[in-house]
Amino acid sequence: MTTTSLTRQRLAGRRALVTGSTSGIGRAVAEALAREGAYVVVTGRDKTEGASVVDAVTAAGGGARFVPADLAAGAAAVEELARAAALAADGPIDLLVNNAAQLIPAQSLLDVDEDLVDRALAVNVKAPALLTRALVPHMPATGGAIVNMGSVNGETGMAVAALYGATKAALHSLTASWAAELAGRNIRVNAVAPGPTTTPANAPAHGMLRDLTAGQPDGRPGTGEEVADAVVFLASDEAAHIHGVVLPVDGGYLAARW
Ligand SMILES: NC(=O)c1ccc[n+]([C@@H]2O[C@H](COP(=O)([O-])OP(=O)(O)OC[C@H]3O[C@@H](n4cnc5c(N)ncnc54)[C@H](OP(=O)(O)O)[C@@H]3O)[C@@H](O)[C@H]2O)c1
Repeated sequence: MTTTSLTRQRLAGRRALVTGSTSGIGRAVAEALAREGAYVVVTGRDKTEGASVVDAVTAAGGGARFVPADLAAGAAAVEELARAAALAADGPIDLLVNNAAQLIPAQSLLDVDEDLVDRALAVNVKAPALLTRALVPHMPATGGAIVNMGSVNGETGMAVAALYGATKAALHSLTASWAAELAGRNIRVNAVAPGPTTTPANAPAHGMLRDLTAGQPDGRPGTGEEVADAVVFLASDEAAHIHGVVLPVDGGYLAARW
C-alpha cells in the first residue's frame, strides 16, 4: 500500500534527503516519503531527472526541492550537499536515505580496474560516511533516522558481483556501528537490502531480473515501491525500537539460500 490519503501521514514535519533520487529506487523512495508528509530534498547529478521528480512530488501535493551533487567528487562536494540540503529544506535534515550507488556490470574479478574500485568505494562507501558525518551533528534532539540502501549482495557471495557486494557489505557494517553510536543522540540507523528490483529506469533489464528471481520463494523481482515502503516504515515512529537491522526486501531470496 502506498496511498495514505485517508490515514495519518507518518512523516509529517520531517525533512528528508534522499541520495540518488533522480532515478529508480531512490525516486520511488522520495515520492513515498513525500506522500507520508516529509519535505524531500532530491539529489543526484541529472538536473532534468531531478526536476522531473520534484514536479511529480509537487503535483501529488507534496514538497520537494532538487539539489545537484556528484557524490564521487570528494569531501567538499559532499559537505556542500549537506549544507545546501538544509537550506533547501529550510531547516536541519532529520531523515537521510543513503541510496545512491555506483552500479557495476557483472564482471569477473580479473576484469576489475583501479578506476572502478575507486569510484565504487567513493560513491557507495565514502560518500555515505561523509554525508552522514556532515548531517548528524545538526539533527534535532527530537530525533532522526538514517536508512542505508544495502543489497542482498552485501549478505551473500555472488560470482561476478564481488566489488559491488563488498561495498554493500561495508554499508551494512556501517549501519550496525552507526546504530550503536548514534542511539544516544536519538538517531536510529537501519538498512534495507533489496534483491533484484525492477524500476522504470532499469526496464531493459526486467527480463534478466525475472530470470534471476524465478527460483526464489516468491518467484519474482521486487519493485521500487516495495523497497520504498520498507524505507518509510524504518524511517517512521512505527520502527521506534528498531536499530541496526538490515531488512531484506527480497521475496525470500536470502532466506532460501541458507
Ligand atoms: N535495482 C536493483 O535491483 C537493486 C537491488 C539491490 C540494491 N539496489 C540498490 O538500490 C539503490 C538504487 O539502485 P537503482 O536500481 O535505483 O539504480 P539507478 O536507477 O541507476 O539509480 C542510481 C541513482 O544513484 C545516483 N548516482 C549514481 N552515481 C552518482 C554520483 N556519482 N553522484 C550522485 N548520484 C549518483 C543516480 O543519479 P544521477 O545519475 O542523477 O547522478 C541515480 O539517481 C543502489 O544503492 C543500489 O545498489 C538496487
